[in-house]
Amino acid sequence: ATIRFDHADGRTDTLDVADGTSIMRAAVSGGVDGIVGECGGQAMCATCHVLVHDDYLEHLPPVGEDEDEMLDCTATERDPARSRLGCQIVVGGRLEEIVVDLPDTQV
Ligand code: FES
Repeated sequence: ATIRFDHADGRTDTLDVADGTSIMRAAVSGGVDGIVGECGGQAMCATCHVLVHDDYLEHLPPVGEDEDEMLDCTATERDPARSRLGCQIVVGGRLEEIVVDLPDTQV
């Protein structure tokens, strides 16, 4: 599956990753700056905040309860429609590709 990260400063990183990989894990292993993933993917830190491009929103699972709470604690303000935790979105299956904007800051 393919993940494209659009940085706030206009840079773009595209990664090909194995199905079942989370956006957070892909970014951290792939050396994409702009995602921290401090809690290791447990929906407990909100440093993996991403803003999903509109075209992909319908393919995502609903926001989980823990995720919803953490999204209220993001360093960059939450977007009601597009904000998700990168650790809670796994690519593959119906989500063969996704494009996300990285927020200005995670901390
Ligand atoms: Fe901590 Fe996603 S890595 S909430």
